[in-house]
Amino acid sequence: MSTHTEQGQKVTTLTLRHMKTTGEKIASLTAYDAAFARVLDQAGCDFILVGDSVGMVVQGHATTIPVTVDEIIYHTKMVARGVARALIMADMPFMSYHTVDDCLHNAARLMKEGGAEMIKLEWGALQIDMVARLTECGIPVCAHLGLTPQAIHKMGAYRVQGREDATAKKMKDDALALEAAGADVLLLECVPMDLAAEITRAARVPVIGIGAGPAVDGQILVLYDILDIAPGKRTRFSRNYMHDRDSIHAAIETFVGEVKRGEFPTAEYAFS
Ligand code: KIV
Repeated sequence: MSTHTEQGQKVTTLTLRHMKTTGEKIASLTAYDAAFARVLDQAGCDFILVGDSVGMVVQGHATTIPVTVDEIIYHTKMVARGVARALIMADMPFMSYHTVDDCLHNAARLMKEGGAEMIKLEWGALQIDMVARLTECGIPVCAHLGLTPQAIHKMGAYRVQGREDATAKKMKDDALALEAAGADVLLLECVPMDLAAEITRAARVPVIGIGAGPAVDGQILVLYDILDIAPGKRTRFSRNYMHDRDSIHAAIETFVGEVKRGEFPTAEYAFS
């Protein structure tokens, strides 16, 4: 079924858009260094996120808030050295995009110094203008909606977002406004599966889910969660792929295969 995976062509924004139209599921994981990035790339991950989850799973912080732009650049450089095919997405850290000027400056650094091919920012009231300006400057953007971990102290807890009619409507309106402003990818974290399905049907750009059920265009998980080496309790929407596997390569290939065949996530890993 996978044309792009078989041909081994470099994944671009066009590839991701094409995969949405053909129905080929997009598989993605986070990575923070060249060794893991190479394994993910060879296993067929379509894009690799240098996530600010690095702050929690690698650096040992309790939240993603301490992560800096310099740290994301450092990790993106390493990931870029390990990747031949996957698109490289890098996270904009907390408060690195609180004004349009800072957003442009830091996004440009992630691309020019780090080698990122798309940047990801968490949704907030100011982001429509930012996405429009990034788009004018030729910077591909992934807009992260739903549970936005950088706002943990404002939200008070990591919990499912969009369960009430008003918050669900707002999330859908925001998603479509971000798309209209130029977002190339939407990412939904911890969103009820029916709402994620509705946003996916309405959006022309690919919608990637993490804890957003099976009806989105692709899935992403945090690498250290699926390898069962992240500190703390594993999130309900993630799965230990080392269970019954005898190597990291096999675990990652199993994840990619299950996403491509639509076998992950089942209802057990989704929210209603
Ligand atoms: O930083 C990260 O790993 C993320 C994922 C939760 C998608 O943003």
